[in-house]
Amino acid sequence: MPPIDTYAVFGSPIKHSKSPVIHSMFAEQTGQQMQYDKQDVPAEQFKAAISQFFAQGGRGVNCTVPLKELAFQRADTLTPRAQKSKAVNTLAMQSDGLLLGDNTDGVGLVTDLKNNNVTLSGKKVLIPGAGGASRGILLPLQAENVTSITIANRTVNKAERLADEFKASGSTSGCGFNDLNDQQFNIILNATSASLSGDLPPLPPHLLANDGVCYDLAYGNEDTPFVTWGYQQNAQKSLDGLGMLVEQAAAAFFIWRGVQPDTAPVITALKS
Ligand code: ATR
Repeated sequence: MPPIDTYAVFGSPIKHSKSPVIHSMFAEQTGQQMQYDKQDVPAEQFKAAISQFFAQGGRGVNCTVPLKELAFQRADTLTPRAQKSKAVNTLAMQSDGLLLGDNTDGVGLVTDLKNNNVTLSGKKVLIPGAGGASRGILLPLQAENVTSITIANRTVNKAERLADEFKASGSTSGCGFNDLNDQQFNIILNATSASLSGDLPPLPPHLLANDGVCYDLAYGNEDTPFVTWGYQQNAQKSLDGLGMLVEQAAAAFFIWRGVQPDTAPVITALKS
């Protein structure tokens, strides 16, 4: 019998990663013979860990914090969306021996928004946060014909620089949180890492338009502070990033296996 195809998620910390359970549900559901493990890999060990994994016949790796930029640098060839986001969350060994780097985070977000019946086209979008998470979602959001994207950040010039990089492909601007007074948005996508420390970005009141939607790219066992804030602002929906996590995994699974898994039962299982 040939050896089983192996995959892994690398990151640090990695103990609480849900990726192995998600991919094993996908594999079972689609009848794919594969193994998917998690490996604690700090940034300084990334190069060696990648070399070892693929030298042993590994087929693909998901990269999470703090490795996405390193994975971008390591990939031999990049998809256009990975190139633009300068971050890679999925590495796939190709038949020519070259390592392909892709970024499925943005498509994961857009798919989860659509699953939740959130229309992006014609909407004014606010993204608090100007780090890697924000960078990864900009291009797929622009592709959905949103009216405009405003990136707000504590460190204002980071938001301005990020917006500059993306403004050729859609109306995108950067500002500080204080500049948001008197503005309203249809959709607010929290891409700060504030939720991870139980914090909320400094959002002024009255920011969310009637029937607006809030979405936190982070998720937790309980509502994140931003999801709670969304409800307080009378959001029509206030969602966390669990669906995005499953959808970005499904897109990676498709790259590796050529099979599209059904995400709905996996999201339901994880929620319960
Ligand atoms: P990631 O890869 O998760 O995006 P990152 O690149 O370190 O991580 O970026 C974190 C983002 O969250 C940044 O935009 C950061 O703002 P600064 O650039 O001003 O540091 C933002 N952030 C983190 N904690 C925050 C908080 N408590 N309030 C507002 N913004 C916060």
